[in-house]
Amino acid sequence: MDKYAVFGNPIKHSKSPAIHSKFAELLGEQLHYQAILAPLEHFEATVNAFFDGGGLGANVTMPFKEQAFAMCQQLSERAQVSGAVNTLKRLESGGLYGDNTDGAGLVSDLLNNDVTLKNQRILLMGAGGAARGVLLPLLNEQPRKITIVNRTKEKAQILAELFSQYGEIDYCSFDELPDSSFDVVINSTSSSIAGVLPSLTEVHIADAKAIYDMVYSDSSTVFLNWAKQHNTTAILLDGIGMLIGQAAEAYYVWRNVYPPSERVIELAKQKAV
Ligand code: ATR
Repeated sequence: MDKYAVFGNPIKHSKSPAIHSKFAELLGEQLHYQAILAPLEHFEATVNAFFDGGGLGANVTMPFKEQAFAMCQQLSERAQVSGAVNTLKRLESGGLYGDNTDGAGLVSDLLNNDVTLKNQRILLMGAGGAARGVLLPLLNEQPRKITIVNRTKEKAQILAELFSQYGEIDYCSFDELPDSSFDVVINSTSSSIAGVLPSLTEVHIADAKAIYDMVYSDSSTVFLNWAKQHNTTAILLDGIGMLIGQAAEAYYVWRNVYPPSERVIELAKQKAV
């Protein structure tokens, strides 16, 4: 059977095996997808053993996306620009092709939820690997401007300079944010994992039409709970749609067919995946 896997550390709670198995089931395809714990010092050897053993494709999650990038002989533009790879595919010629489907997963989730990005003012909180991975796909939607706000301003500056050739983009620290609302607010920081709020104030989300937290959890995130108290009309989304969207894009990279991701998002919301 066609073999796929996800590599990470930790990996036990990964939803990827369930998501890809559901894609295959809904498409009437047969594949085997497993979660593999890669030792921190032996990522490359673990991945090589999988592909040497006949693996066709793999996903890569924390903390290995930069190492995966470094292993690839060929890269998509979006992987090249983000410096990180979450999707590996075995090349016919040997070696690996790398892609980064995270940003496409975010954008497709926003668009599937009827969130307009074109001509909108987007606030992107955070300037780590997660932010870097989504900037090009977001800019491709032609927003009016993306403002990157980060606790460490220098990291926001580096990203803004790197991506300025692709669209209108600026950066600041939280206390330099203007006293006005953005249209779409996206949290890419890891603050929700730690259960703390980023230093945003009500005014920045007051007129937002969509508020997104890339983290997903079985209950709502601390950031979305806070947002709900200060904006009752915005659509609030956590990262489950992005997770399933990036998986769908990866499935397409490997097998050239798009799985029904919206159906799987519905099932995940009912806790049926
Ligand atoms: P990831 O790959 O998930 O993006 P990362 O590269 O370590 O992880 O980046 C984490 C991001 O979350 C950074 O933007 C970080 O801000 P700093 O660059 O200032 O460290 C941000 N972050 C983490 N905890 C935060 C908090 N409590 N408040 C605000 N931002 C936070």
